[in-house]
This record gives sequence, structure tokens and C-alpha cells, in this order.
Amino acid sequence: MSYTVAIMGATGAVGHEMALTLEQRGFPVGQIKMLASERSEGRSIVFRGKRCPVEVLTEKSFKGVDIVLASAGASISKKYAPAAAAAGAVIIDNTSAFRMEKDVPLVVPEINPDRAADCFKAKEHPLIIANPNCSTIQMVVALAPIQREVGIKRLVISTYQAVSGAGTPAIEELVEQTHHHLEGEELLDMECNAFTHPIAFNVIPHIDVFLENGYTKEEMKMVNETRKILEDDTIGVTATTVRVPVLRGHSEAVNVETRKPISVERVRELIAAAPGCILVDDPSKNDYPLAIYAEGKDETFVGRIRKDDSAENAFNMWVVSDNLRKGAALNAVQIAELLIQRGLIRKK
Ligand code: A2P
Repeated sequence: MSYTVAIMGATGAVGHEMALTLEQRGFPVGQIKMLASERSEGRSIVFRGKRCPVEVLTEKSFKGVDIVLASAGASISKKYAPAAAAAGAVIIDNTSAFRMEKDVPLVVPEINPDRAADCFKAKEHPLIIANPNCSTIQMVVALAPIQREVGIKRLVISTYQAVSGAGTPAIEELVEQTHHHLEGEELLDMECNAFTHPIAFNVIPHIDVFLENGYTKEEMKMVNETRKILEDDTIGVTATTVRVPVLRGHSEAVNVETRKPISVERVRELIAAAPGCILVDDPSKNDYPLAIYAEGKDETFVGRIRKDDSAENAFNMWVVSDNLRKGAALNAVQIAELLIQRGLIRKK
């Protein structure tokens, strides 16, 4: 059986990766609809060696569509989800639009696959399954086995996030600013559109908008989404999310305080056995996860695992994954695969 899949935001960084991931995983796509804004009219995207014209997204775009993979921004998801639902499509939404809504499952297939079926029970609600925020996904993949074995009391997180998380214009801005600076232009004179300050040769402690509590929305996504996915509202979470001049691959320093004691050796064992995780932790050989090695890979890489002697039951780790892959496109496609395996998508 094959399915009609629509990619909302097909011309974007995540949209491109979604099409590539569908193709590489042999997802049963019958027809594919590449949806974007009027700006992309006339463009086409290659899928399985064939050029697919980009269509302008409208409320009528969803006729005959079984699965929508949405990554065109939260406001676009909010605007078009009702039309997609009315057409009978299941929406796998990579934006923040619905993640914290009670009836919307927030799914990482390695952790909470059973939750994916929840939205099929609440009949009055559109069939939306939310893909978590990129920085949250890679961290919880590593944390889930720890939570199951000893419980997590508190997390202190610092992220080092690639510019591709802010989309194609952000990638272009980093590349252009880097060239211009190397050619002699002053960084402080540069035009900034994707970020509030020059990102080339810089580190910006500001992702998404600032909220009244002084944190950014990205930081609060990590707090709230981690608790929802791990199903434990008592976990203390505090985060500082930072943009760095890396094209692809988010890195995170995570300090984990557990409820019960756990040895570093056991943490290593659990992470090495966790689905979707690869342990890269041999300091004697300078082996630790790096963004440039994670690029284009499906797994989350974990290393620098060491005891934190400043607290009773605590350790530190370094977590790296490709933000466009596991952090966005791959997780969304895995959710679609899960729904098909469980017979939850009815073909039109
Ligand atoms: P477009 O390329 O036509 O602007 P990124 O995060 O990499 O910037 O990608 C955002 C994606 O969302 C792009 O595919 C973009 O299309 C799409 N998009 C943004 N605004 C709209 C809109 N109003 N309607 C449809 N697609 C949109």
C-alpha cells in the first residue's frame, strides 16, 4: 500500500530533509505534494529522481492527502491544520503550534510510541501528532533509559545549536557573513536578518523570542517538552540555549541529577543500549561526539560521561545529533512509519 504525502514547507531546510528521508527510508509514498509559499512558484524539487513542481499552499492543497508533514512555521500550521484535518489527513507537525496541547501527543518513537495513538481516541480533535523541538528530541533519546532506571530529579542544560535550526536564510547568513568578514568587512557593520547579531565568529545566547520570565521560548520548550515526553512534571529543568556558527548538528552539555544513585559505567551501558543512541566516549583517544561527524546521520551521539562530584547523584554528558535529521525530518518520518505499522492511517 502507498500513501499520498504532502510536505508543508517543502522548499525549506527541514522540508528538503523530509523529502530526502522519505526517499532514503523507502517510505511507501504513492504521490508527493511539495507545498510552499507563492515565493516558490515555478520551483521544483527532485524526489526519487523526478522533478516535482512546488505547489502554492492553500486550503485546497490537502484533497486526497493521507499524511501531512508540516514544517512551514507555527502560524502556518495553525492556519492550515483545520483544512488538512477536514480533508481527512493525519498531520505530523514539526512546529511548536500544538506541542503542549493536551490532546496532541508529543512523540519520539524510541521513547513513547504508544502515545501516537492518543489523538485517534479524542474524536473531536484534528489528528495532529507533534514532533518535539530539535534540541529536546536528541536529549530525551539519551535520557529516557536513565529516567526509567533511576528517575531524573533535575537537568541543567547548555546548548550549542547550529544555524540550520533557524532555516535556510540563517544558513545563508552564516555563509555570507563568514565570506565577507574574511574579505575584510567588519562584523559589527554587517546586516543581520536571521539573527539579532552577526552569527559569524560569534556565539549568541538567544534562540527564539524572550519571554516574561527572562528565558527564551527555545529554553522553555526544553523545559516543558522534556517533562511531557518523559511523563514527569516533577523533573526540574533549566536551560540556556545558544546559537553557534555551525551549519548542522546541535551539541548539548547536560548535567543530570538522578533520584537514585547510578554509576557512570551503568549510564554508559544504558546509553550504549538505547535505541537511536551511539556511545562515543573514549577521552584517551580524543573520542567524543562532534557536530561534523553527526551531520547526515540518524543517531544521537553521547559522550564525555563523567560523575559530577558537586552533587549527590549526578553526572555530566555531551549529546550531539543532526538537528535537521533526528531533530526534525527523521523523527517526523519515524512517526509516520509508526502510524502505518499500527494501522492508524487509513488510505483514501
Ligand atoms: P518558501 O520557500 O516559499 O518561502 P525555512 O525554515 O528553511 O526557512 O523554510 C520555511 C518553509 O516554510 C519554506 O518551505 C517556506 O516556503 C515555507 N513557508 C513559509 N511561509 C509560508 C507560507 N505563508 N505559506 C506556505 N509556505 C510557507
